[in-house]
Amino acid sequence: MTRHRIAPSILSADFARLGDEVREVIAAGADWIHFDVMDNHYVPNLTIGPMVCAAIRQHAVQAEGTKVPIDVHLMVEPVDALAQAFAEAGADVISFHPDASTHVDRTLQLIRGAGCQAGLVFNPAAPIDVLDWVIDKVDLVLVMSVNPGFGGQSFIPSALRKIEQVRKRIEASGRDIRLEVDGGIKVDNIRAAADAGCDTFVAGSAIFGAADYRAVIAAMRAKLGG
Ligand code: DX5
Ligand code: ZN
Repeated sequence: MTRHRIAPSILSADFARLGDEVREVIAAGADWIHFDVMDNHYVPNLTIGPMVCAAIRQHAVQAEGTKVPIDVHLMVEPVDALAQAFAEAGADVISFHPDASTHVDRTLQLIRGAGCQAGLVFNPAAPIDVLDWVIDKVDLVLVMSVNPGFGGQSFIPSALRKIEQVRKRIEASGRDIRLEVDGGIKVDNIRAAADAGCDTFVAGSAIFGAADYRAVIAAMRAKLGG
């Protein structure tokens, strides 16, 4: 049976009390913490960098002390220097957009060489062909279901077709690769993404925009059947 992971995006958290927000969302049932990095160049917005990742690392733990993975989504160009900086700042998973790196294979090797899991992110209009050449070096594929840059946008339905295609490639590879979706995920569409083949779900505004994080995460899990 698929193990589902819910990864709240702290982009929609209260940045003035980020450590507490991370602890609260973990207590509410989060599996991963999704960390959106925007550079006002690859995307038209500017967010948080490696120093903030290092600061929240100590808060990203379960009550009994188990580490909760920090899932860094780099929306930056170029990629390599920041990927290295995030590895040093305590990131566990580092994903980047292949169109933002001149040498995708090298960037994947850099991330894994730094001790992190490496992911590739595909925008709504991006082809996934690069997977044919580097799937042996990929630990996660992230399918964007909005155009990156902002929280609170609407889910783009063609992402479901892309998720299905990525799932086929993952199965064909025989490798243990997470398939994650990001953008516009809510209680009422999370099941469709799971049915298309996702096992990991980013949700920002749906969780942090609600008064009761636990209730939203529980409702999402109920739709996933556990
Ligand atoms: C968008 C980010 C997302 C964003 C999702 O560029 O990559 O992670 O926080 O937010 P929602 O869930 O509100 O669409
Ligand atoms: Zn993201």
